[in-house]
Amino acid sequence: MLLWLLLILFFCESFTLRSKFTNISAVCSHEFCSSIKAWLTAKDEVNLDIHLNNTLRNGLRTTLTLQQLMDGQNRYQTLFSYDMDTCQTLRNLLQGSLMKIWLRNVFKYGNLTERCPIKPAYYNIRNFQLETHSIPGYLPSGFYRLHDTNYYGKPKGRQRRSVATFILDVKFY
Ligand SMILES: *[C@@H]1O[C@H](CO)[C@@H](O)[C@H](O)[C@H]1NC(C)=O
Ligand SMILES: *[C@@H]1O[C@H](CO)[C@@H](O)[C@H](O)[C@H]1NC(C)=O
Ligand SMILES: *[C@@H]1O[C@H](CO)[C@@H](O)[C@H](O)[C@H]1NC(C)=O
Repeated sequence: MLLWLLLILFFCESFTLRSKFTNISAVCSHEFCSSIKAWLTAKDEVNLDIHLNNTLRNGLRTTLTLQQLMDGQNRYQTLFSYDMDTCQTLRNLLQGSLMKIWLRNVFKYGNLTERCPIKPAYYNIRNFQLETHSIPGYLPSGFYRLHDTNYYGKPKGRQRRSVATFILDVKFY
């Protein structure tokens, strides 16, 4: 739920290419949220409303998958998929001073908590946009899709409890 922001920023800010959000969707299990809504503003900025009704604690995991839209096809090719311990990753990021500054910059768009446990409350993000940096990039221009899947359970286990899933489409040009 938090990490998707990080990865997007990490990716988008790593490129000299310009980038633009083109679509976003979010679903959250009723066990954890009473409602969730994600949308793009007229300026293609991300807004998010989450009514969290269940504490998110240690053990929560996040899988991030980056896909690229194949030219002229309605098909995505997976570039990479990475599974991590969400709370541990946040703790690690908050330890590095450079990462801390960067993380604070991400969290300033809303009031999501950057440390576990994340208590039941209403959280939002408003007008989240990519900030331009000029670090050399590696990905070619095109359309990309980022999946962020949050769950409890073992990475490849059958007994996964789904928490929330976000899909964000980004165009590099
Ligand atoms: C945006 O994503 C939603 C949910 O996946 C989908 O229903 C919709 O068609 C998408 N819109 C565009 C313009 O791609
Ligand atoms: C869920 O959480 C929201 C925000 O904290 C709260 O307003 C709402 O009453 C809660 N709903 C349930 C069913 O617990
Ligand atoms: C987050 O901000 C919204 C809107 O300002 C507010 O209604 C909500 O109570 C805040 N949530 C927390 C956990 O501070």
